[in-house]
Amino acid sequence: MATEYREYGASTNPPAMIQVRDLTHYYGPRPAIEGVSFDVQKGEVLGFLGPNGAGKTTTMRILTGFMPPTQGKVTIAGFDVVEQSLEVRKRVGYLPETVPLYTEMTVTGYLKYMGSLRGVAPKRLPVRIGEVIELCRLGDYRKTIIGKLSKGFRQRVGIAQAILHEPEVLVLDEPTIGIDPIQVVETRRLIQDLGREQTVVLSSHILPEVSMLCQRVLIIHQGHIVAEDTPQRLAQSLQGVERIELEVRGPIAPVTAALRRINGVTEVTATPGRNRHTFVVQARHGQDLRDEISKAIIDGGWGLLSMQMSTMSLEDIFLRLTTKEEL
Ligand SMILES: Nc1ncnc2c1ncn2[C@@H]1O[C@H](COP(=O)(O)OP(=O)(O)O)[C@@H](O)[C@H]1O
Ligand SMILES: [Mg+2]
Repeated sequence: MATEYREYGASTNPPAMIQVRDLTHYYGPRPAIEGVSFDVQKGEVLGFLGPNGAGKTTTMRILTGFMPPTQGKVTIAGFDVVEQSLEVRKRVGYLPETVPLYTEMTVTGYLKYMGSLRGVAPKRLPVRIGEVIELCRLGDYRKTIIGKLSKGFRQRVGIAQAILHEPEVLVLDEPTIGIDPIQVVETRRLIQDLGREQTVVLSSHILPEVSMLCQRVLIIHQGHIVAEDTPQRLAQSLQGVERIELEVRGPIAPVTAALRRINGVTEVTATPGRNRHTFVVQARHGQDLRDEISKAIIDGGWGLLSMQMSTMSLEDIFLRLTTKEEL
């Protein structure tokens, strides 16, 4: 089910807005990410989906020039994030996992300060602050001390500072984590608005969120990209698959081949046993292939010892997608 990662070679497409090539990063003896490569096209909204510790934050820190990778290369709008970090910072807005907000400042005061740091022209700055306050619906909180804001509103201030300098690329690290459900809805709406104009990379460990906001999803697990697809196709495959487990007395390779020939079978895995083997057959949602399977086993002259069918839930499949071991 996991789609193979595509090789991005020379192509006729325009150069990607973000090019990530073979990123590896070590904090300690084990790599936090390894061999991560992908492209993001201009205007695309890309989701980075993975459980805790998968390597999302590490990748985003490297993407934004916050930290150099141990190995590999990233370019944004053609600029190398390590060698041309100034050019990159002009073009990238970053909402880190924990936003370094100055809690004693007012919202407007903070945005003024960040805007001047980001090199927004002094003449332009008040206008731009007005725009981002409007966009992030912070109008009622201009004069509020940041320390008094709820987590959800602070997150919006974080997004406001990320877009102040009108970057072409927006990198949002788990933008809805830890905020209340109403704020989650608001923040997602804001990201949707931003995604209409901008190139966005956002990370999340929530599948429906990524499906809702992104045109393409990369699934990262233990530092590796394990799947890449459109959310529609992911949702389709995640709707559910039928899983049939059977014990067969017969040789693994021919039994596997016979099972794979059955119309509707999407995957077959085998676990060898002593004098019987266990096979797991997957089929598309809603297909009951037990008749066809028993016929194939009997036609092959093998012994069918048991057969059980179950429907895999979305969670099962997501877990499977992010688990390296074969069933
Ligand atoms: N500053 C750090 N020092 C040491 N190890 C780290 C550091 N940051 C992250 N890691 C480790 O790198 C791996 C990837 O972490 P991270 O990129 O934060 O994943 P995610 O954002 O997907 O939760 C984890 O195993 C994590 O423990
Ligand atoms: Mg993280």
